[in-house]
Amino acid sequence: MMLCFGSVGLVLLALDMQKGHGNPDSAVWNRMETSERNYYTRYHNMTEISEWMEVMERENPDVVSSMIYGQTYEKRNITLLKIGLSSPERKKAIWMDCGIHAREWIAPAFCQYFVNELLRMYKTDTKVHKMMKNLDFFITPVVNVDGYTYSWLNESTRLWRKSRSPGPDGCTCYGTDLNRNFNANWGTIGVSTDCCEEEYGGTKASSEPETQAVTDMLDEMSQDLLAFITIHCFGQFIIFPYGNPNTLPPNYNELMAVGLGAANAIKAVHGMRYTVISPDILYPASGLSQDYARQIGIPLSFTFELRDTDEYGFILPEDLIQPTCEEAYVGVQHIISYAHDKAFYSSAAAVTTTLWTTLMAVWVSSATLL
Ligand SMILES: *[C@@H]1O[C@H](CO)[C@@H](O)[C@H](O)[C@H]1NC(C)=O
Ligand SMILES: *[C@@H]1O[C@H](CO)[C@@H](O)[C@H](O)[C@H]1NC(C)=O
Ligand SMILES: *[C@@H]1O[C@H](CO)[C@@H](O)[C@H](O)[C@H]1NC(C)=O
Ligand SMILES: [Zn+2]
Repeated sequence: MMLCFGSVGLVLLALDMQKGHGNPDSAVWNRMETSERNYYTRYHNMTEISEWMEVMERENPDVVSSMIYGQTYEKRNITLLKIGLSSPERKKAIWMDCGIHAREWIAPAFCQYFVNELLRMYKTDTKVHKMMKNLDFFITPVVNVDGYTYSWLNESTRLWRKSRSPGPDGCTCYGTDLNRNFNANWGTIGVSTDCCEEEYGGTKASSEPETQAVTDMLDEMSQDLLAFITIHCFGQFIIFPYGNPNTLPPNYNELMAVGLGAANAIKAVHGMRYTVISPDILYPASGLSQDYARQIGIPLSFTFELRDTDEYGFILPEDLIQPTCEEAYVGVQHIISYAHDKAFYSSAAAVTTTLWTTLMAVWVSSATLL
């Protein structure tokens, strides 16, 4: 299959014609639409994702810009896309990151899908348009760029989870679990001090440059961020703070209610069940990015564990990318809608939670028809 990128659009057009869809009556728009689906139903390596980020920026210069906000241990750039309609005023924002665990390939695939949907929907959907006007979306498709690149090397590296920094003196293994390395109860529970283990938390909080990069961005933006969402797999969970069984966030009930709303919205798409839970019940853990985000004052903080429930585990087949992304998109949108409505029509927020669960189902059915 031909995949030399000049522009995603061009390549996809070529793929489409190979398949014999060269109907002279069909508009270019239709061919793009068909072929985009093709792109978003496959996993892409880091080179392709970087190319894709450039294409997104180039093709949507009025709403998309990119920003390099850190470098990995192996000196690769950590890049996010900022998406939103420009405004003279300081905007509220939403954070989403994917690919902090290398082998969870559905996560970067979801970030790509999410960006594409946002860019497609805001032109026609008034709600999405309003959110693009009031909010900026800061989306990192791959946080753990070294680990993700490593997981693409060959079959024996496919299940790599951690970063790629060498262990401390006396330990010959590589990698820190970046989602045990944040400065939130660091090193206390559900973490390993053995650098050969999958859940090795590092030598100290934020010892890893990837963790530090995300931390710096969150610190800088904490006043503006309404929601923090980090994407993982697998297990079909919506997890919220805290990982430590002895502390509850002040808005525990709100987090639970919004999480349940998201799970309901997800179920309405393809019938998949997501369990809403805090990790103190699921598996206590420390150094989590979601806990750090909540601790610095970001009110809504969630970890999504996407499909499946252990049939394929981390090796989710490509034909399940689309349904997984479709339902997760709606779940994430539920949270973002809630955050948006609460900030911009504050007193109505309680009511709109329920309302949006219903409306979202309608939105889904129209989205999946295209
Ligand atoms: C990434 O994927 C493309 C398309 O399959 C391939 O041509 C390229 O060699 C890959 N790059 C790396 C670094 O694996
Ligand atoms: C990181 O980004 C800079 C600025 O765009 C670029 O010059 C550099 O080549 C990038 N580094 C890597 C390793 O891709
Ligand atoms: C896979 O890549 C790793 C890292 O380069 C290498 O050590 C290993 O020998 C490779 N395994 C196979 C089966 O090619
Ligand atoms: Zn994970």
